[in-house]
Amino acid sequence: MRIIRTIAEAQQRADLERARGRRLVLVPTMGALHEGHLNLVREGLARGDELTVSIFVNPTQFAPGEDLARYPRMLDEDVARLEAIDPNITVFAPTDREMYPGGPDANLTWVEVEQLDRHLCGAHRPGHFRGVTTIVARLFHACKPHVAIFGLKDAQQYVIIRRMVFDLLFDIEIVGIPTVREKDGLAMSSRNAYLTPAQRSQAVVLYEAISEAERLISRGEQAPEGVVESMLSRLRRAPDARIQYAEVVDAQTLRPLERLEAGQEVLAAVAAFFGETRLIDSAFVRVPDVGESVRVQHPGS
Ligand code: PAJ
Repeated sequence: MRIIRTIAEAQQRADLERARGRRLVLVPTMGALHEGHLNLVREGLARGDELTVSIFVNPTQFAPGEDLARYPRMLDEDVARLEAIDPNITVFAPTDREMYPGGPDANLTWVEVEQLDRHLCGAHRPGHFRGVTTIVARLFHACKPHVAIFGLKDAQQYVIIRRMVFDLLFDIEIVGIPTVREKDGLAMSSRNAYLTPAQRSQAVVLYEAISEAERLISRGEQAPEGVVESMLSRLRRAPDARIQYAEVVDAQTLRPLERLEAGQEVLAAVAAFFGETRLIDSAFVRVPDVGESVRVQHPGS
């Protein structure tokens, strides 16, 4: 297992592998790896010749008062998990000082994707996506991948990173991988470890809300408010959930919708706190064409 700690070494290695004609894949993470991350890793192995997993808890994407200090850090276990999948994986695990010389506050250049960060999580976590895009741009420059793999679980992050890559001409293919879930449907997340047993069993309402939205939209529901109301009523079944948002938005612009139009790609998304733990879930759904929705409503017709 190769563990790289410095940007210089990561760049040198990337140059070397590129010169050898190898296709480089990057899976950016903040560690505390679970099956959701490992699925991205397996996908990454299938899509190139040299896979790097970056593990860096990025301070600039945590707002003051969020869980930066207690975010789980377990590099040895993470490395062991990756080694069990494939000993040829490279881990890029820089220190804070390496990624932010002089500290995060001394950083002067930021990557900010406008508008897309105003909605959903961005509306509630000021500065979060600026931190994400800035670190992802740096990880791209450090690891120089041809392909980078992201989870659709963080749907807004995925949409924003795709836009950054498009606008800034990064020559990198961005791949999105469907959400990996626990048996009861809860999306896997490093933050699930914070939940008490009671919170954990209630947290499944996030998945139920999203599944309900998918069902309604694919049956031809046209009013976003109807979908949002059903998601909220699912979330309210969990007595300990403090709901932050339940929304149906356009899948590209992330703007709220007045009507669900046939053929449109939409994103149904929810966020809720259980105690101090904030969890999210979401699904991209295509609004069916009129004929399609009739078929769903009258199977066999
Ligand atoms: P982190 O939360 O560690 O997630 C790393 C990657 O794993 C992200 O692309 C995320 O969407 C994906 N992921 C997490 N849980 C998943 C699940 N249950 N199923 C599928 N994919 C899942 O996202 C970040 O880190 C950071 O913001 C980062 C992009 C690394 C920048 O710091």
